[in-house]
Amino acid sequence: MKRWSYPVVVLNFKAYREAVGSGAERLAYVAETVSKELGVTVAVAVQPTDVHRLSSRFELPILGQHVDPHEEGSWTGHVTAVALREAGAEGSLLNHSERRIGLSEIAIAVELLRKEGLRSIVCADTPLTSKAAGALRPDLVAVEPPELIGTGISVSKARPEVVTEAVRMVSSVDPGVPVLCGAGISTPEDVYRAIELGTVGVLISSAFVKSKDPQHTLTGFCQAALKSHESRSSRL
Ligand code: G3P
Repeated sequence: MKRWSYPVVVLNFKAYREAVGSGAERLAYVAETVSKELGVTVAVAVQPTDVHRLSSRFELPILGQHVDPHEEGSWTGHVTAVALREAGAEGSLLNHSERRIGLSEIAIAVELLRKEGLRSIVCADTPLTSKAAGALRPDLVAVEPPELIGTGISVSKARPEVVTEAVRMVSSVDPGVPVLCGAGISTPEDVYRAIELGTVGVLISSAFVKSKDPQHTLTGFCQAALKSHESRSSRL
């Protein structure tokens, strides 16, 4: 697994019509172009049916949106870490608000991803659940207050204390686990604030997927991410 440079922008394609099949290809092309132009790590989390389609065509990290806690066998309809790796995924989100699983399932799924050499990004809805997620030593924790998801009201502006608290609590159990934040992030300023609050990047969906000009939108997000990351690093 390649190390990700910071900042990181993870684009969650969810199950939006604009972001499946050929739409997923179109948006992944935009993501790869902007990522290469600006030198920012941009990953896309896609439907399991699109993982191979994108991984065979693009170099950017392709992530699953969910993994079931099963190694292999008679698990009809489940998505395994082995299947994701075989399809060319670099990792997966786990426990997204729209695909919650229990703590013991998250723990198993993180291990299964690790065993396959895949990256895990565990989503959490509060600072406390972020801490529990951090204790499992995933590659990243992503804090997202569910009530702000898809609203256009950014967590980094409306609930900055959730982000700073999540960063503090995750670091208290394992300072080596970096934190992302997401929910409602829609402007470059939202991205700038998110990183200023101590995260290494952001998780974004609707503002990118639904944008009339995704390339312009993502360019703004990535420029803000770089600027904020640089300014924070110079202060450390
Ligand atoms: O996984 C990202 C997400 O849940 C945030 O969605 O639409 O508020 O950017 P959105």
